[in-house]
This record gives sequence, C-alpha cells and structure tokens, in this order.
Amino acid sequence: MNAKTDNTSMASDVPFKITDPAKIPAKRYYDEGFYSKECEELWPHVWQMACRLELIPNIGDWVEYRILDKSIIVVRSEEGVKSFHNACRHRGVPLTQESHGNCGQRGFTCSFHGWRWNTKGENTFVYGKHLFDEALLDPKDLALHPCRVEEFGGCAFINLDDNAPSLRECLGELADRLEAHGIDNLRAEWWFAAELPANWKVAMEAFQEGYHVMRTHPQLQHAAPSLYNARYAGLGDAIDTQKSTKQNVDAQFAHMERLGRGMAGMVHSKEVEIARQLLDVELPEDPNEGVMMWFGMVQDQITKQLQAKGEPVPDLNSVAVSHPLEAVEFIFPHFFLLPFFTSMSSYRVRPLGPEKCLFEIWSLTNFPEGEEPEPPQEPSILPYDSKDFPEVPQQDFSNIPHQQKGLHAEGFEYMRLAKDIEGLISNYQRIIDGYLAKVEPDKLAKAIQQLGGNFDGKIKDLGF
Ligand code: FES
Repeated sequence: MNAKTDNTSMASDVPFKITDPAKIPAKRYYDEGFYSKECEELWPHVWQMACRLELIPNIGDWVEYRILDKSIIVVRSEEGVKSFHNACRHRGVPLTQESHGNCGQRGFTCSFHGWRWNTKGENTFVYGKHLFDEALLDPKDLALHPCRVEEFGGCAFINLDDNAPSLRECLGELADRLEAHGIDNLRAEWWFAAELPANWKVAMEAFQEGYHVMRTHPQLQHAAPSLYNARYAGLGDAIDTQKSTKQNVDAQFAHMERLGRGMAGMVHSKEVEIARQLLDVELPEDPNEGVMMWFGMVQDQITKQLQAKGEPVPDLNSVAVSHPLEAVEFIFPHFFLLPFFTSMSSYRVRPLGPEKCLFEIWSLTNFPEGEEPEPPQEPSILPYDSKDFPEVPQQDFSNIPHQQKGLHAEGFEYMRLAKDIEGLISNYQRIIDGYLAKVEPDKLAKAIQQLGGNFDGKIKDLGF
C-alpha cells in the first residue's frame, strides 16, 4: 500500500500540509493560521458529540454545547431531540445563560425583551407585535435556526453543515459493533474535565497508541510484561509459554485489576470481582489455550451474573465473535471510547485556542433497569495536575503540557511516527488536511470510517 498523500488532489493552500504520512509538522499544534483554518474548515463541517442523552430525558430538558464561538442548544421536544443555534431571532441574545436546564411549558424566553420559542423552535410570543413590520415576523424566519442533530451511542451529535454526510455514514461499522455491545444502555457514573495547556490534537494523540504505556503507565506493564514486550519490544509472545497457565492468568488478572483501578471504571470493579472468582478454575496446561479459555469463562460469568442482576448487558462471548471491538473506538474528530467487557470510558476534547483545550472523561457502565442513578449534570472540573483524577489519566496529563512546550523547540520540525503502531495519528491528521483542502464529503466520510478500531494501527491510504 502506498499511503503517501496525493497532494495533487488537495488544494495547495493547506498550511503545514502533511506530505509524508510518517511526519507531522510541529506547527500544526500551535500556529495561529493553522488553528484558524481548522476553525473555518474543520469544526463547522464535522459531527460532534454534543451531550449525553441521559441529561435530557424529559420534554423541555436542554443542554448547551459550545464549540469555538458557537453556542448550540440541544433540547428534548415532543418530537424527539432537536438542536438550535442559541440566539434570539430579535437581536441575537443567547436564549440560555446556564449549561443545562428545563425550559418548562413556556419554552425558551429571551432575557432581553421576552420573546419566546417552544422546544420545536417555533416562535410563540413577541411582545408588542404591532411595533414590527409583518415581514419581519414571518414564522419561518422567526423560528430558531436549526442545527443538524443525530443520536448514537447514548449521545446527541450535532453538525453545523447541512450538506455533510449523515453521522451513520461517517461511523460505518463502528456504529454496528458498538450497538451490538449495548452502548445505548450505558450510563455515566462520573464525569471529569480539565483545561489542558495543549493543542487539542496533542491531547487526542496521547490516546491513539499503546506505545506510551511502558513509560507513562509502568504499573500496567509490570502487571503483564509479556503483553507489552510482545507488542512493542518484539520480545516473545503476549502469552508467556515459559510460564504456566496459572501464572499467565494471574498476570492477565493483575493487569485487568490495575487498569480498572487506574481508570476508576472501564474494566469496572464489579467485573474485576467476577474475574477474581475464576482465578482457581481448572484450565488446560497449554498457556495459550488456558488463557483463552479463562477469558471465555470470565466473559460468560460477567454476562450471566450482570444479567441476573437485571443489567442490560449483551452476551459478551457471542458479540466478541459477531462484532469484535477494538481497544479504542474513535469518532472523528474529537470523541473516542475505550471499551472493556460491558463498561467503557469515553473522552471528548474541544479546542479553547491554539494551545489550550477542554478535556472531558466519562466513565460509563450499565445499571439494572429502573435503578439508574441520577447522572452527573456537569463535569467535575479539576486542575489538570489534580491528584483527584484517576491514576491513568493523571499520568497521561503529566505528559501532555510538556509535549506542547517541546513542540516549540528550535529545530523540531515534525513528529516522526512508527508506521505500524502510530498510524492512527497520521490517519486522523490527514483527514484534517482533507477538510482543510475541501475534499469531497463522501471521500471524507469513507476516510473517517477507516479510523474505527485502529488502536496501534497502521498508516492507511485514505483515498485522497
Ligand atoms: Fe431577544 Fe429582544 S433580543 S427579545
């Protein structure tokens, strides 16, 4: 495969364009002009996770989603979830001042002169109507300006571009496999956020390969060294055949437990406890066979025990065959999920400037129907170096601001990527170039589909 970017098909005015897919120009992470180009050509055309749907279960519930200088209202109406640009049609005052709420039966009331709109965006009240020319009060024109919205995976996604391909077209098979794993049933247990002094892409890329684990999360490698040595150091196999099945199973369990503790979720503690029950089961002597059988038993028991409690979890062993998930499921450009067994962590990164971003993490799991807890209404916003973050994100956050500084170093012109395990970074960066160069939307959607399941992935030919 030749993944060299075909520059002839791309507009020539893309600044700091990627010409060699293994080299990412450093200025893409701090240059004002590049940032402006992203603001003009990327963000107004992509699907963006705007809110979790459990925040708006009732008619009138709304959430504000902010991206750059835009404010969007996502609201539950009688007709389902709607989305509008947050500006009064009289003189432009935002209709909401908070991050979320319920607009009640009267709908949204402008705080300036009191005009009102219902949850469908229709104007329902103009104070002193007779003062205005009739032409200015045409109901169609007076309605709130709508924004495209689609639901997927327990979230509302918005797109500011009326001509962009649908969200499903962009997600491709990723949507099918996550739905098979019951993503729609997940609920947030916690929601943390931090402002990071780094470009949004630096923050994203910290999660696009596992190559950093050895140094950044050494506790994970120590728990299961063969897992990482086989993958990244080219040493031996992930299952250490020099050791017994029992020793291998213990290492897998220790890794799982440490990961679950370090993420405060993802491998949920209830699942770790079920796996613990199976540490002493009889298994084949061959470590490869034994570990595989043990995982099958763990998945079977997690399914049965959680279903017995009333949790709407899928049969893990059957979906592992029909719809296998990857370690990271990436939804371009700024949202991704880390699934494990029946629970997941999810992340969203929004730019706040060329060298600042808002980083959010949700921990998601299942609850028995009717026993879902009140979801967190807002993120707990912490300083990025807060010890209150779980161990693993704390370790990730310790690198990100340093890397942002290092990118400015004299002579540091580009990042160099390992073509087989840091390919996701190259692939999503070249999709950004596709947006900046105004590549046809259908080609961009197909390229976005290629990002799914590409953890430690290869550099791919994106077709433009
Ligand atoms: Fe909203 Fe006047 S600006 S009613």
